Amino acid sequence: MSADIKIILCIGLAVIFTDVGKSALIGKSHSKGNADPVLQYVVNNSLREHPVLTKLKLRTLEDPWNIMMVASEQAQFMANLIRLINASKAIEIGMYTGYNALSMALAMPENGIVVACEIVDTYIEIAKPFFKEAGAENKIDVWHQKAMRTLNDLIADGEAGTYDFVFIDADKSNYDRYYEKSLELLRKGGVIAIDNVLWSGKVVNPAPGDVTSQNLDNLNKKLHKDQRIELSMLTVGDGLTIAIKR
Ligand SMILES: C[S@@+](CC[C@H](N)C(=O)[O-])C[C@H]1O[C@@H](n2cnc3c(N)ncnc32)[C@H](O)[C@@H]1O
Ligand SMILES: *[C@@H]1O[C@H](CO)[C@@H](O)[C@H](O)[C@H]1NC(C)=O
Ligand SMILES: *[C@@H]1O[C@H](CO)[C@@H](O)[C@H](O)[C@H]1NC(C)=O
Repeated sequence: MSADIKIILCIGLAVIFTDVGKSALIGKSHSKGNADPVLQYVVNNSLREHPVLTKLKLRTLEDPWNIMMVASEQAQFMANLIRLINASKAIEIGMYTGYNALSMALAMPENGIVVACEIVDTYIEIAKPFFKEAGAENKIDVWHQKAMRTLNDLIADGEAGTYDFVFIDADKSNYDRYYEKSLELLRKGGVIAIDNVLWSGKVVNPAPGDVTSQNLDNLNKKLHKDQRIELSMLTVGDGLTIAIKR
């Protein structure tokens, strides 16, 4: 992918994510201008953020694309899913500055491993010192290449059926492919969390030519019928689907 395309992709994401705060959805607690008192209440009364995660969040807020960062309250929910299923092997598709990768790693046992997929080297450089500061650098394996390639490499290495948890949060055009590869990599009872499935509510009635909303809508409808999984679609953040492999 060229640098230009990456920038366009980032701007597109940022524009769409900025919309989230204005939409009917509750959105993310760190979104600029999101003063939803219910969300504030939720954060005030349930967030338990590791001090290094707080520092990483503050550092990420200095980045122009910080709206891409996962919400702390959503990361905590996924860390708790990791604890519930006793996950020790996870994959994150789209790491950005590493907030959620670190959050997952901190919820895992000593032998836990997070395979973090990211293509932008400056984001990886921001993330790494925080992984080290939290003492989690040995639990996070950053693969600096396209996520599809990483998933195919893992399968080629004989890792199919061995992962406990996958978080899909990168380029939306590949979501269906990421989902299929993730199912292959998961063990029975493993969990896939898919972010942005409501796309600021645009999936309800995708505009003609809005390919991203159409793709996400198609994926949502495919999962609803997919007998390989159990599922829940949550109105958390920009919409989060939880799929459990049968
Ligand atoms: C929404 S952000 C991820 C946020 C992150 N999960 C967090 O915890 O804050 C999406 C990320 O996916 C990355 N990305 C986009 N296309 C990718 C690809 N084909 N392979 C790997 N990463 C990709 C982007 O550079 C961006 O950092
Ligand atoms: C949340 O906490 C902040 C900081 O202490 C406070 O200003 C705000 O009023 C609180 N909001 C709610 C809804 O609890
Ligand atoms: C959780 O997983 C670890 C290995 O990662 C294992 O030692 C432990 O027994 C597991 N605990 C439960 C409750 O399954």
